[in-house]
Amino acid sequence: MLNIRYELTTQKKEKPDQTKLGFGKYFTDHMFIMNYTEGKGWYDPRIVPYQDITLSPAATVFHYAQEMFEGLKAYKTPEGHIQLFRPDKNIERMNNTNRRMCIPEVDPADVLQALKAIVAADSDWVPDNPGTSLYIRPFIIAIDAQLGVKVASNYLFIIILSPVGAYYASGINPVKIFIETEYTRAVRGGTGYAKVGGNYAASLIGQKKAEEMGYAQVLWLDGIEHKYVDEVGAMNVFFVIDGEVLTPSLEDGSILPGVTRDSVIALLNNWGYKVSERKIAVAEIIEAHRAGKLDEAFGTGTAAVISPIGELNDDGEIMIINDNKIGPLSQKLYDNLTGVQWGRLEDTFGWIERVK
Ligand code: COI
Repeated sequence: MLNIRYELTTQKKEKPDQTKLGFGKYFTDHMFIMNYTEGKGWYDPRIVPYQDITLSPAATVFHYAQEMFEGLKAYKTPEGHIQLFRPDKNIERMNNTNRRMCIPEVDPADVLQALKAIVAADSDWVPDNPGTSLYIRPFIIAIDAQLGVKVASNYLFIIILSPVGAYYASGINPVKIFIETEYTRAVRGGTGYAKVGGNYAASLIGQKKAEEMGYAQVLWLDGIEHKYVDEVGAMNVFFVIDGEVLTPSLEDGSILPGVTRDSVIALLNNWGYKVSERKIAVAEIIEAHRAGKLDEAFGTGTAAVISPIGELNDDGEIMIINDNKIGPLSQKLYDNLTGVQWGRLEDTFGWIERVK
């Protein structure tokens, strides 16, 4: 149990227009911080005014990227309660990432307490316009001031909050995705399954290339043969082929084990759909499209929620999916998932954690 110290702001900020939130542009009044020093463990948990932090220019995180982050959301229900969606899954993944990055683990109960405390402190920032939520970004950075490549002894664990709308400017309208065959995001034995900034840094060049061609994101393929589907960087990916739902399996360790991905699979299984988690060759997607059997494709993510894919570009071969419209299954998943998150549908899976 953390003994959180509160240093609350005396100058609350003006809240942004809820119809123009976009993603990750505004930050709330407070943040949570806790320090770690080897031999002492995690200490001094505190909620302080949202502020810049001062670090040595030699801090490990700047040079060798020893860091991790997570992403989850708080939602306001029609009754005015504030709730989190499956925070236990994010906390579990957080410690999986920490182990991969040689970052000290954090007690899961302490993380949950910190999440609830910071969201409760800034609960007036949880927006209630349709499609909005409070994005929660916990992260840990290595802060030793030394340039040798080695595991740091000092860390900061910080949680910041941002009221958000849709991740993509297109909202829930289908996005265009470019299939990337030149660059690689992750390989077996690497950090693909971990939530670390380095994965996203390595993906920027592909995303930039895709954006220059008018695409929203990149579909990353396996790092060895560039033959099998991995993920879309900010989302996991699903295909509906001839009524069957397919998504890449996690076994190679190159894909992020998404909380939304896991929830979608649970919903589909519950509804009696055939869901296969396996290797999916791009050639299979192309073939299904040519045969008129690629019914739907969509991405899943905390930020992206359910994001229909309207177009895939494979080396110039353009595949328009479901007439570039949101498909019935994508819509059903979006409605059910967000229905539970926003407290409009019954939480039959026990996914909701009430903050207040
Ligand atoms: C999320 O969905 O929470 C993510 O972290 C994806 C992206 C914004 C980096």
